[in-house]
Amino acid sequence: MNDEINNMTHPMLEQASSIRRNDEPKKSSSGRTASSGISDLPLSEWREFEEILTDSLWLIGDRDRSGVHNAGYHGNFVPQIPYQLMRRYTRPGDIVIDPFLGSGTTMLEAQRLGRNCIGVELLPEMAEHSERYVQLQGINEEVHTEIIVGDSSCVDVQNSVLVSLESMGRTQAQLVIMHPPYHDIIPFSDDQRDLSNAPTVNDFVTKFGDIVEGFSEMLEPKHYLAIVIGDKYVNSELIPLGFHLMSETLMRGNNLSLKSIIVKNMVNNRAKRNLENLWRYRALAGGFYVFRHEYILLFKKVK
Ligand SMILES: C[S@@+](CC[C@H](N)C(=O)[O-])C[C@H]1O[C@@H](n2cnc3c(N)ncnc32)[C@H](O)[C@@H]1O
Repeated sequence: MNDEINNMTHPMLEQASSIRRNDEPKKSSSGRTASSGISDLPLSEWREFEEILTDSLWLIGDRDRSGVHNAGYHGNFVPQIPYQLMRRYTRPGDIVIDPFLGSGTTMLEAQRLGRNCIGVELLPEMAEHSERYVQLQGINEEVHTEIIVGDSSCVDVQNSVLVSLESMGRTQAQLVIMHPPYHDIIPFSDDQRDLSNAPTVNDFVTKFGDIVEGFSEMLEPKHYLAIVIGDKYVNSELIPLGFHLMSETLMRGNNLSLKSIIVKNMVNNRAKRNLENLWRYRALAGGFYVFRHEYILLFKKVK
């Protein structure tokens, strides 16, 4: 089935699209169930997997607590994000790379879903944390995981990822998930190589570009790269980090085309919920809106 989209898929054009739309799943000429090709979701059973999101607005409720994930790392994402991306864009046995592994959310979900995973993390203590949780979750002999400690923008580190891919019997990965710092919103360390310590927004965007360039090279054509990012305010001015990273990625990524801009709600922890009234007051006084969303920018490597 052709997975390309055109303007006819816009809900605003629902009426027009119904003239041409054939929303019943197609079977291949052999009569076998068609899948989207890069996932193992059988399209003939598309009504069955209601948990797979297809809208560009992701309203995710509470954090999924069914795995061993530790929600304590300030700046982690909810497991539902890598879960959704892996279910749609990979098959069991595929390789997922996360160049900003943090507390290992991507790797733990990969392990649960039978996907192999290579993670890079600058901070040794976080790499150790992730390794501990991977072990705690249990070793699935079928699943290979490797954590590389270092700066993802460094060519030597990128070469180590290539070596790791080869050790898993592949030369390219089937999904890259990137969840960088939102510039200096959360300072992760004092290390100058840490993206949260980039002196300016331009430096942050350029260094991120180095990472996207290196890692998109390792992505198999027709496969996906996702960036999870939020914006920030500086001196009452909104700095659209998401849009900056999107245009940098389109400029520097290897054959990446923009597939979707997903808006995801922010799930606040209890401490933040207590501050809600204060932020509401500040927003009313300052003439701005309190961030309640972040982006998942989705790119496909076209060749
Ligand atoms: C937003 S957090 C990622 C959180 C992760 N998704 C999770 O759920 O735990 C960003 C991570 O990137 C790491 N980081 C910052 N600069 C880096 C760099 N140049 N190379 C590799 N990791 C880096 C930080 O130490 C931090 O752990």
